[in-house]
Amino acid sequence: MKSKILLGIGLVVGLILVVILSVFFYISGKGIPSYEVKLPDYTVKSSPEAIERGKKLALMLCAGCHMNRETGKLTGTQMLDAPAEFGPIYSRNITQDKNYGIGNWTDAELLYLLRTGIKKDGQYVPPYMAKLTNMADEDVNAIIAFLRSDEALVAADPTPDKDSDPSFLTKLLSNLAWKPMPMPTEVIPMPDTADQVQLGKYLAYNLECFSCHSADFKTNDFMNPDQSKGYFGGGNQTLNLKGQIVATANLTPHETGIGNWSQEDFVKAVKFGLVPNDRALRYPMHPYTQLSDYEAASIYEYLMTIPPIDNKVERVFYD
Ligand code: HEC
Ligand code: HEC
Repeated sequence: MKSKILLGIGLVVGLILVVILSVFFYISGKGIPSYEVKLPDYTVKSSPEAIERGKKLALMLCAGCHMNRETGKLTGTQMLDAPAEFGPIYSRNITQDKNYGIGNWTDAELLYLLRTGIKKDGQYVPPYMAKLTNMADEDVNAIIAFLRSDEALVAADPTPDKDSDPSFLTKLLSNLAWKPMPMPTEVIPMPDTADQVQLGKYLAYNLECFSCHSADFKTNDFMNPDQSKGYFGGGNQTLNLKGQIVATANLTPHETGIGNWSQEDFVKAVKFGLVPNDRALRYPMHPYTQLSDYEAASIYEYLMTIPPIDNKVERVFYD
């Protein structure tokens, strides 16, 4: 009797092991999934104004990950602040070099990647690369105009790419949890810049402020940012370049957030990293010097309209 039970247990454990091993080898072999590429009909519309605007956006949105300190251009680098469980991740050379950069990509291929996260060969890029889900068509066009321009940051540079080595966890999540974003089917208009709350919301969404400043990257809703868990309530555990945790601040209009802050204090913090009566803001928060005072103030005006969240986030210092 006893031996039959043991045999039964042994069989069940054996079966579970076989299933786990099969999943492991299947996912390891399959890797990051690929998707069909349905290119839109699109050619970049370039002008000096578009390039200027695109440069400003790219400095705030792309340079943080793609800037290489040695070349001084967007030739890619290792993502030292990515969680180690994901395996080593390298951003890529996005200068106009034809071999290592994006010199051989068409405008439509760039647009498709930036919107959906799917590369021209169909390969899916996990969420460690930003996706411009809600950005106005005009602004995405401006970023592509900048990438195609003769600005020094994107001039052809033959620095070779280093390949990321995604871990099993990254592969598993890319197959089960993470999905590409849909290509917008309608025109996304620019915000009304005369309406500060509307402009501020647009910037809070599209400069990805919400993504770091809500509860957790895992529970963010990129399609509808204000549906993210703990929207702007802070406490998300981002990493600095040494892999130490730097919790994000509560930016809701609660007294544990920025409820007692003046608009002027907020603008100084966002543009220059200066906080009243405290030490300067640290990485991965970076100074948004490219924002005008009006734009930074608009983010403040918008944040004053969102639901307050009671969440006191302590700043932990390591030095
Ligand atoms: C959080 C970091 C991060 C940000 C922000 C980011 N990227 Fe990337 N990007 C990456 C990584 C990492 C890869 C490599 C992905 C891979 O190979 O799977 C990548 C890949 C790319 C590629 C594909 C290049 C190739 O040769 O395959 C392009 C194009 C690109 N990024 C453009 C941009 C632009 C434009 C922006 C700003 C709007 C941007 N990225 C913002 C991290 C980032
Ligand atoms: C990559 C993640 C990240 C992004 C994106 C980000 N922040 Fe932050 N932010 C942080 C972190 C982390 C801190 C806390 C830094 C510290 O404690 O030194 C912070 C702090 C702040 C503070 C200080 C608040 C306080 O109570 O001290 C303000 C204001 C702020 N961020 C505004 C913004 C705005 C506005 C945006 C978008 C334009 C933005 N942040 C985008 C990570 C981010």
